Amino acid sequence: MNPARRKAYLEAMQIDTWDRRVSSPSPLAQTSEWDELERLVAGCRRCALCETRRQTVFGVGDRRARWFVVGEAPGAEEDRQGEPFVGRAGQLLNAMLRAIGLSREEVFIANVLKCRPPNNRDPLAHEAAACLPYLERQIALVAPRLLLVVGRIAAQNLLATDEPLARLRGRVHRRGDAGPPIVVTYHPAYLLRTPSDKRKAWEDLKFAREVAARG
Ligand code: URA
Repeated sequence: MNPARRKAYLEAMQIDTWDRRVSSPSPLAQTSEWDELERLVAGCRRCALCETRRQTVFGVGDRRARWFVVGEAPGAEEDRQGEPFVGRAGQLLNAMLRAIGLSREEVFIANVLKCRPPNNRDPLAHEAAACLPYLERQIALVAPRLLLVVGRIAAQNLLATDEPLARLRGRVHRRGDAGPPIVVTYHPAYLLRTPSDKRKAWEDLKFAREVAARG
């Protein structure tokens, strides 16, 4: 049966029909991509962290956010609650966002690793490599104006560099030609230990705001 006739029959029978996507993804298609991605992450067994996690920590926030915050990996509290940045570092991150006029709900927050490394050790290179495609897909789906990367570990993994944080701050980075601009700042857990660097973090946030506004 030709497709137009088939569609007419189905509609007459009040059966939902849909057309093949030709241009930009509809909100419905995006929803199913998110659902599929969440399902993949929840069942992921690409590295040994799946043996020790309580649950995966997918990410949270506005799926159409202008700002996408990237952290390192879930800690104990995040592993328990299934949400990134819910411990003390999370409270400081919320305050940092508020300082530049953003609420936690307005941004999207995710980590390089979706599973907690035992005893909060640094992610291993093969763990980050296995997990990064999930973050890359999240970034592509949100299509933010800016990526704010917090901490050396997240920045080095995302930017595939071993440059120290001091050299990564204060510049705009890119991954490939098409991605959003990337700005790096201190991890809030580090700032809790070293409050004297909060002033520099504030400079980074103002710089990030400026970069986002350019886009
Ligand atoms: N630190 C991170 O990098 N991510 C979290 O989700 C929590 C703490």
